[in-house]
Amino acid sequence: MRLAMIGVGYVGLVSGACFAQFGVHVTAVDKDLQKIKDLQGGKIPIYEPGLEALVQQGLQSGCLTFTDNLQDALKDADAVFIAVGTPSRRGDGHADLSYVFAAAEEVAENLSQPVVLVTKSTVPVGTGRRILEIVEKKRPDLKIDVASNPEFLREGSAIEDFMRPDRVVVGAETENAREVLRELYRPLNLLETPIVFTNLETAELIKYAANGFLATKIAFINEISDVCEASGADVQAVSKAIGLDKRIGAKFLHVGPGYGGSCFPKDTLALVKTAQDLQCPLKIVEAVVASNDARKESMVDKIEALFNGDLTGKTIGVLGVTFKPNTDDMRESPSLTILPLLQKKGVHLKAYDPAGMTEAQKFLSEISWENNVYDALKDVDAALILTEWNEFRALDFERMSQIMKTPLLIDFRNIYTLDEMKKTPFTYVSLGRALVTEQN
Ligand code: UDX
Repeated sequence: MRLAMIGVGYVGLVSGACFAQFGVHVTAVDKDLQKIKDLQGGKIPIYEPGLEALVQQGLQSGCLTFTDNLQDALKDADAVFIAVGTPSRRGDGHADLSYVFAAAEEVAENLSQPVVLVTKSTVPVGTGRRILEIVEKKRPDLKIDVASNPEFLREGSAIEDFMRPDRVVVGAETENAREVLRELYRPLNLLETPIVFTNLETAELIKYAANGFLATKIAFINEISDVCEASGADVQAVSKAIGLDKRIGAKFLHVGPGYGGSCFPKDTLALVKTAQDLQCPLKIVEAVVASNDARKESMVDKIEALFNGDLTGKTIGVLGVTFKPNTDDMRESPSLTILPLLQKKGVHLKAYDPAGMTEAQKFLSEISWENNVYDALKDVDAALILTEWNEFRALDFERMSQIMKTPLLIDFRNIYTLDEMKKTPFTYVSLGRALVTEQN
């Protein structure tokens, strides 16, 4: 099998490297020459555990090659994957499909053999059908089967998610397309991975419905956590107990400062817009989007209340700024809402993140970026955990209490238990749980 991967962004690179690991001959193509040169030398442009080693293995085995020349990539390909970006369109929240359609046109123009053209990018329902129209119009002489194969990769565990998925979704309407996709994913047969075959529209909607539902779970538990705080209940126990109900499931019930990242915010918004256009508004997802926006801002109110409504002149040491651990991705990170709001209220910020600081500096200004946890916490009025990086899970509280002005830990990821915090000199503020103070 030979495969061309259009786009070496996050999804294209992970998928390409993983298919190459399966023994498929993958040529990944991108217009960004610098990126291609780096990748040819085995250097990856993003932070993703295990990916650089996988790319290097692919290069060594000869199964993975990179080029900026589309015709070279398409030569002898059995399948062509489109994995270009679909950012939120400025102004209206719709997914911007211009890169996807441009890629489809260019592929069709440059092909000289029949292929299966697979969309991996997250695209609204109906896009595959439009791609089919584009390629049929452009190349009536050539048989190009169109398929949809959405990805469900989480940043930070993308390789594991690709290699051990809960399911693979394939929207395909010809036997040839189904056969090519089945063949590509054959190595997953050993794990008995279910492949769900559907039509194009269903596969496209599955991706949005999955992300919409997961975002709903998070927004739901975040709101429940406010009720816990107001009533004396404990959100960790609520999550655990409702998660034990198999109909609900334990995952994605972890309380936090609001979901972020490259997918949930963009995809929930695009789903809302698509549904509105189809005249069947998704009121639940609309509420989830609004709830998550409000969530991020309410985190600032919570901090302000701890300082009796006046944050002027306070210094806070921030631990973690990325939208989640094991990534340097800052897209839609809650920190991008929370930190500027704190600054507006007169807070001076010091911060440390194990991987995200270079990226964060593009979006956040007037922050003292520090080299480690303890430099970030020196002389601060409070420590604020925004991302649950492993290295924040075993803080040296003794040392912290010596270097901080006040022993106050605000943890918006609930990474410590109340019992362990009671043994420290810290006032511990977490989400949806009781306050720990020196008195209790
Ligand atoms: C997500 C989907 O999980 C993946 O299937 C899809 O393909 C892309 O979007 P990702 O954005 O990488 O993946 O991260 P994920 O682990 O899903 O977390 C998304 C956001 O939700 C993060 O900000 C995270 O902190 C937050 N989250 C997640 C919670 O607040 N609570 C949870 O229980 C889970």
